[in-house]
Amino acid sequence: MSDASNMRPSRVFVTGGAGYIGSHVVLALGEAGHEVMVYDNLSTGHRSAVLHGELVVGDLADKALLLTTLQRFRPDAVIHFAASIEVGESVRNPLKYYRNNSANALNLLEAARTTGIGGFIFSSTAAVYGNPAEVPVTEAAPLAPINPYGASKLVTERMLQDLAAAAPEFRYVSLRYFNVAGADPGGRLGQNYANPTHLITRALKTALGIYPQLQVFGTDYPTPDGTCIRDYIHVSDLARAHLDALGYLLDGGLSTVCNCGYGRGFSVREVVAMAKAVTGIDFVIEEVGRRAGDPAELVAASRKVRQILGWQPRHDDVEFILRTAWEWELRLKGVRR
Ligand code: UFG
Repeated sequence: MSDASNMRPSRVFVTGGAGYIGSHVVLALGEAGHEVMVYDNLSTGHRSAVLHGELVVGDLADKALLLTTLQRFRPDAVIHFAASIEVGESVRNPLKYYRNNSANALNLLEAARTTGIGGFIFSSTAAVYGNPAEVPVTEAAPLAPINPYGASKLVTERMLQDLAAAAPEFRYVSLRYFNVAGADPGGRLGQNYANPTHLITRALKTALGIYPQLQVFGTDYPTPDGTCIRDYIHVSDLARAHLDALGYLLDGGLSTVCNCGYGRGFSVREVVAMAKAVTGIDFVIEEVGRRAGDPAELVAASRKVRQILGWQPRHDDVEFILRTAWEWELRLKGVRR
């Protein structure tokens, strides 16, 4: 087990570091004294979200730029966020997901190998489990994604597994994120997509009047209130898991895969009720049919990330997640006025 706060400073190359989760991790890396280079094509990320280190605007499809950038920076480790992330879009446009999530990861792994980088942290997803037979789902559960998003991430997990088996000096940690939400409690960062689709962001923007109503996708799932259950994790706690994974790899830890969630599930109706309580706004709900690709229930078994990486979450509280996200949304709206 490593202690992220005592880690020696290292050089970390972060793809997608201008995005929602990546920017929170870059900030945490900076606060912990690490040297950071962000590589991001700014397709969904923002230059203003990179609060630490150097930003190189580049695409993972640009193999030449990727390689020269890595050779210039010579990082100790890579953290790979850059990806397309919407389940619904992946069902409509699967090849975009195999291109951005699988093929681009291959480019990055090849460049990392050429540069001799031995440590890799990968943003994987609970979507690799599909509809798990048992909840909470452990890392040993069958991998059976039910949408192209999960399948495209699983391809990269397999590449990492096969590469580590072939080249023992290459070690990785795959972090399977559950439902990431919330914003930096200091108000410096948050989610800022042009067309957000995630439940908490949609709910809060509906409360702000940006959308006329919040659609609830499916009320006939085999769950107590008929809506889907998810394990919501605060983005700053997730950022901490990356620093723990970095410390683990730098200490010589073996390749591993860890779920990132708290181990508690909340239904869509429960989240909506809490969003109304936190905002004090009784926004309009429209119950509609199921969204393609949605599993009924996804809750993490989180023993491994705590025991192996030494992860100690600080914000296991949906209300805190909603409150920090709400403060961020209010700030964003103020900026736009
Ligand atoms: N939902 C609604 N209305 C909305 C948006 C979402 O009812 O406007 C519902 C969805 O149908 C789902 C739940 O809220 O039941 C959560 O949906 P999100 O879109 O917020 O998140 P997902 O569960 O689809 O996906 C997220 C990440 C994935 C990750 C997955 C793992 O985007 O990267 O969590 O649980 F794989």
